Amino acid sequence: MESPYPPLRKRTLAERREWLLGALAPDAPTTAFFESQNGSLDVADTLVENCVGWMSVPLGVASGLIVNGVSYEVPLATEEPSVIAAASYASLILGRAGGLTAEAADPVMRAQVFLEAPFGDAAERLELHRTTLEAEAKSYLESMEKRGGGLRGLGLTPLPGTNTCVVNFDVDVRDALGANLLNTLAEALTPRLEELLGGKKLLAILSNDASQRLARARFRLPVAALTKPGFTGAEMARRIVLASSLALADPQRAVTHNKGIMNGISALALATGNDTRALEAAVHSWAARTGVYRGLSTYRVDEGVLVGEITLPLALATVGGSTGSHPGARLNLRLLGITRSPVLCQVAAALGLAQNFAALFALAGEGIQRGHMGLHNRRASSSVV
Ligand code: MEV
Repeated sequence: MESPYPPLRKRTLAERREWLLGALAPDAPTTAFFESQNGSLDVADTLVENCVGWMSVPLGVASGLIVNGVSYEVPLATEEPSVIAAASYASLILGRAGGLTAEAADPVMRAQVFLEAPFGDAAERLELHRTTLEAEAKSYLESMEKRGGGLRGLGLTPLPGTNTCVVNFDVDVRDALGANLLNTLAEALTPRLEELLGGKKLLAILSNDASQRLARARFRLPVAALTKPGFTGAEMARRIVLASSLALADPQRAVTHNKGIMNGISALALATGNDTRALEAAVHSWAARTGVYRGLSTYRVDEGVLVGEITLPLALATVGGSTGSHPGARLNLRLLGITRSPVLCQVAAALGLAQNFAALFALAGEGIQRGHMGLHNRRASSSVV
């Protein structure tokens, strides 16, 4: 069936926009919003194909998230009410007890080449030719090596039942996401792999799995800080611990629990020009790594102190891709004051835990509508008057 829309690829940006307004005839406020974007359209047009404008989401700042003793102003791009208020509220409460601590592993990502019908002894052949293959791989990674990154591993895994094997190149990509670099590496090494290991390439592509670059965050909060009307601090702490354990016992609760964690992290990723889909795929696959989808955070009470912890695979860049080409992303990274990927991953993990704490604190207390949404409603009504 023929598309009712004209091919957009050969039209200019102005022609595409004129067509869209003509075809959809939106109401006056929508037209005004659409037309107010004129100033930055050229940027959008360089970012994607067949561009017709921006689909903006609000950008706000969660204030004063303390991580490893540094206070961050965290830019969050989200359409969801209460996400920023909840993150700021959690930052305030946790900040009174010193904030969160966090750490992140080296930014190692993987490029994969899948070979169909390789030689039966492909694994032995890889060992025989390891030096040659590593040298060839390194020749594509010189600029990364200059920055302290580069090749960190080379391995082969047979994939039973598929008549294929996968050759994995592990690369420290420093502050970049490294997608282009990893894809280039995988494709460039393909002919040599076919020659030495046999078989034919089926796929050559990075893996968005980020389980080699785990970020961890934790906080310790005296239970007295959790006191709220109708609940002692100790009772609130007990309820938060029990509530978090539900996400380990019930996969359907785990989905919502983890969605709340990602409320902040995805909004930070979007605000900094990072790939939200890659990030979420990696996080959710990690949540299901035992074969059952489970909550990503844990809580316990330790001698009158509520301890919250989270471990997440996070691949967040501070250079390259949209982080560099989107002016808003560049500005947001400046607001954060972060230039290194591992630091951004630490802050993201801490934010996810803080967001999760805010949700559980409200849910296990007065409930989400009065607690969480109350934060938003206060904000909404104060902006109306
Ligand atoms: C809402 O966006 C997020 C929550 O549902 C998370 C949760 O239930 O833990 C409040």
